This record gives sequence, structure tokens and C-alpha cells, in this order.
Amino acid sequence: MQFDTVIHGGTIATADYTAKGDIGIKDGRIAAVAEKLEGGARRIDAGGRIVVPGGIEAHAHIAQESSSGVMTADDYLSGSISAAYGGNSSFIPFAAQQRGQSVDDVIATYDARAARSVIDYSYHLIISDPKPEVLEDQLPRAFARGITSFKVFMTYDLMNLGDGGMLDILTVAREHGAITMVHAENNDMVKWMNRKLAAKGLTAPKYHAISRPELAEQEAINRAIQLAKLVDAPLFIVHVSTEGGAEIVRREKFNGAKLFAETCPQYLALTRADLDRPGMEGAKYICSPPLRDSRTQDALWHHIAQGTFESVSSDHAPYRFDETGKFLNGSDIPYPKIANGMPGIAARLPYLFSEGVVKGRITLEQFVALSSTNAAKTFGCETKGRIAPGMDADIAIWNPEARVTVTAADQHDNMDYTPFEGMEITGKPEIVMNRGAVIVEHGELKAKEGQGRFVARQPVDLRGKPGFTAKELDPSQNFGAELR
Ligand code: URP
Ligand code: ZN
Ligand code: ZN
Repeated sequence: MQFDTVIHGGTIATADYTAKGDIGIKDGRIAAVAEKLEGGARRIDAGGRIVVPGGIEAHAHIAQESSSGVMTADDYLSGSISAAYGGNSSFIPFAAQQRGQSVDDVIATYDARAARSVIDYSYHLIISDPKPEVLEDQLPRAFARGITSFKVFMTYDLMNLGDGGMLDILTVAREHGAITMVHAENNDMVKWMNRKLAAKGLTAPKYHAISRPELAEQEAINRAIQLAKLVDAPLFIVHVSTEGGAEIVRREKFNGAKLFAETCPQYLALTRADLDRPGMEGAKYICSPPLRDSRTQDALWHHIAQGTFESVSSDHAPYRFDETGKFLNGSDIPYPKIANGMPGIAARLPYLFSEGVVKGRITLEQFVALSSTNAAKTFGCETKGRIAPGMDADIAIWNPEARVTVTAADQHDNMDYTPFEGMEITGKPEIVMNRGAVIVEHGELKAKEGQGRFVARQPVDLRGKPGFTAKELDPSQNFGAELR
């Protein structure tokens, strides 16, 4: 076969194995993987390099208004470029429903925004208004279009659906093979803490960390899982930030729950001490759930190594350190009025490689699983996340020895800071491909605006997750009531 491109001489790493070999690419797909491949209109020498599936960023806020109406600094052009520099070939940002808005309108809005992307994309649909027409007509329509994940919030007054609303979404999602993602923090515990802190005038950025207790996350994670178990629906817990939360996830997974979870680099690399920087600097580190402590970092790494998490995602939520972002509500404002979130889409994989693989906390195969393969399975990207014949040629070629000091400019996003500034990283994606096209090569952007494509996704892969039948929903045990 005449290949368009052959990547030769590299060490191919997948979620299952690592071996020396060549990859032949034809028409945007991987056509062959073999010990030696001849030919190729272009031959890329990967000697001394590690060749992995291009990252799939499964948690990013791009061209999205926050619940309080602050627009992210990155649109689909700058966000996708930053992702590509960070070793990603595709991403799944959120498409957020505002209250009163139809899901069809949400999707049309994000289709227009995403048309600028340089990498392939899909959306997780955030549901804030699950009225009957949304549940009965609009979500099934979104699902039929290949949007197979819905996200709900247990916190933020404008987003919190309550337990009943969550059960409705979980039920619809289960019926269609979709997965529900959840931001799990107990809203009333947070509001109660906010009131206590405000009464004492404690409003500096550092009190954000105090206002959202570890127990608020743990309680909500546990509650979300029990809600999902009641209706036997798959559930994905986003941005787990606590040891207790991770322990609950591990236990419930072990017991067969249809459960998936992620954590994020900020919970591994930063602590609440970062919120206590001089003046308003701490605002850069405000995200929810908040940063915790070094003991938690060790525990989360342990859970990553032990398989509690499917993915390490960035939760890229870029709000600039100025009046367009963090300080849209004023410059000297109490922490509850500061936009929540921090950037990190370009730093995710270099950080995970450096602190994970290079430091021996995880294997190279785990790195691949956590960065792309598991996300592809969980979120139904059936042609992505693996290096095998027939798959999209979404590939990243890493120099495992490159030394990099993280700077804001090198993130290639539209931000004016990175929370990872100054961090020493070993390992760098030098060449990144999306469907066979080189999009980043040795620091140069090769992609054109709009060359990314929408990925219609499949249902979540539930193999190995038997789930539960609650007695009360089992017609053989509930006097024959058909409630499911
Ligand atoms: O603080 C964060 N993480 N902001 C983004 C929205 C969310 O909750 O994921
Ligand atoms: Zn969240
Ligand atoms: Zn998020």
C-alpha cells in the first residue's frame, strides 16, 4: 500500500503495550502498524521518541458562559490550538443550556462556535432546565446526533437541579445509552459556609478553599452514586478533589456500579496555600472544587495508579486575571463573586507525563489510558484513543527527555497567566496529528482554523460494569409496579 505518511523508528505506546514499530497512515486513518514499513509520501523519523494516541481532553470549558454569565477567554480557535500544543488531537468541551433555552438552540449555538476548532470535537451537554420537553424530545434528539453525555450540577444556585431533577436526567440518559456527568458538591453546605465566613468578614480569596469543605464533595459524590444506582444509570464524577471522594468511587466501582471518574492536574500540583498569595493573586487559583493539601495530592496519585480514575482531565476554565474574567464583578471583591476556574488544557499531558511517567508514579501505558484511551471508551469516540489499523490517525510524538519550564506564553491560549508558571517539566509533544494531518510540529502551528470535525459519539461502553437493580424498581419484588 502507498501510505500518505509513515512514522518510523519510534516506540509506540498504547494502553496495553509498548513496542518499537512503524505506523502507516492513509486517508486520515491508521492503515498499518508493523515492525517495519516502507514507503510513505512523507516519512517522519520518530527515533528516540514515544508515539502515543493524540490526547482526548474530556473536560474543558470553551466559548462557554459560566453560570454567572462570564465568558471564557478561550474560544474554539484559541482553545483548540492550546489543546493541540499540549498533545491533544480532539476534545469534548461543554455546551451549556441556559435556563429557558432549548437544547436544539444550545447545540446550534455551539456548532457555530466550534466551527473554528483546529482539532476534532464533540460536546457534553450541560442541562440546567430539565423540563418535560427537554427530557422527552430534546435530549433524545441530541443523543441521536451523537451527543452521548449530559452534565449536571449539584452546586451553584443557577445550575443545581436537585435530586429529583438528577434522577430524571439519569433515567433519560440510561434509556438512550448516554452517560451523566456530575459536578458533586453539597450546595447547602457551601452556602452555609459562605454565610458563616461573610458574617465574620472573611472574604479574601483563600477563604474560597474553606467555604467548600471536603465533606461537601464527599457527601455529594456518595449521593450522586446512590441516585445513579437507584435507576441503574451510568455516572461520571468530574474533577474529584478529595481522598474521601476517591475512596467512595473506588468502593462503588469494586461493587459493580456503572461508575467512572476523573481528577485534574491542579489537585495534584497545587494546594490551598496558593490561594493565600499576596493581594488578589489568590484569585488565579479559585476553582471548584477548591485546591486541597499535599496529603490529598499523594492520595490522588495513589488512586490514579490504582485505577480509581479513568482520566486525568484539565477542567480548563479560562478566566483572565482582569476585568473580563476573574474581576468582571469588580477588582476588590469577596471570593464568591470571583469567576471560578483556571486554565490548563496545554499543561495537562506534559504534567501527567512528567510527574506521572518520568517520576515513576504511573506506567507509560497508564499515561495513554488516562490521556485518551479511556476517554474514548467512556464517551463513545469509537475511532479515537488507540493506535491500531482503522483508527483515526490522531497521534502525538513525544520527546521524553525534553526539559521545559512552564510559562503562560507557551500555553498558546488566550490567557494572561498559567497556574503552573515556572514548573519544571520533562517530556514534550513535538508533533501532533489529527486524522493524519500534522497540526503542531516542533513548536509551529500547522493547522488551519476550522479543520476540526464534529465527532458523532456512540453510547458509553459498560462492559465489566454489571450495575444494580434496586429492589423497589424490580417488578418481581415491588408488587409488579413497572417503574423503570
Ligand atoms: O471552577 C471550575 N471548575 N470552573 C468550571 C466549571 C466547573 O465547575 O467545572
Ligand atoms: Zn465542575
Ligand atoms: Zn469544569
